[in-house]
Amino acid sequence: MRAKVISAYPKAARLVACLFASVCLLVASGSVCSAGDVKAGRAKALMCQACHGLDGLSKVPDAPNIAGQTEPYIVAQLQAYKSGARKNDAMSVVAPSLSDADIEDLAAYFSAIEISVVKIPGP
Ligand code: HEC
Repeated sequence: MRAKVISAYPKAARLVACLFASVCLLVASGSVCSAGDVKAGRAKALMCQACHGLDGLSKVPDAPNIAGQTEPYIVAQLQAYKSGARKNDAMSVVAPSLSDADIEDLAAYFSAIEISVVKIPGP
C-alpha cells in the first residue's frame, strides 16, 4: 500500500514541477508577470492624463513623469497615497478612489510605456 502511494508520487511531482517551471518562464519573460491588465490600465489612465499625460510624461509643472517607471514602484506609491502614508494635494484626492485592481492595471500600463534615453548631458 505504502509503496503504491510512493510510486504514484513522482509522476505528480514531475507534473507540478513542470507547471511551476512554465509559470516561472512566463513570469520571467514578463508576459503574465504583472497582476495588472495593460489595456484596462490605458482606459483608466484617462483620469491621470491631465497631469501625467496618457504617454506618462508630465503635463503640469508639479507632476512627475511616470512613463516606464517600474511597476512595483508605481503600485507602492499609489498604495501610499491611498493609505495616507504619502500625501499630496492632487494624489491624495485621486488615489483613495482607486481599487487594488485599478492600481495594478494603471501600474501595468504606465510601466509598459517604452522610454529611451537619447542623451545624457555630461562633459
Ligand atoms: C491633478 C493632477 C494629477 C492627477 C489627475 C494625477 N496625478 Fe499623480 N501626481 C500628481 C502630482 C503633483 C504628483 C507628485 C506628488 C508628490 O510630490 O508626492 C503625482 C505623483 C504621482 C506618482 C508618484 C510618482 C513618483 O515619482 O513618486 C504616481 C505613481 C502617480 N502620480 C500616478 C497617478 C495616476 C496613476 C493617476 C491617475 C489615476 C494620477 N497620478 C493622477 C498629480 C496628479
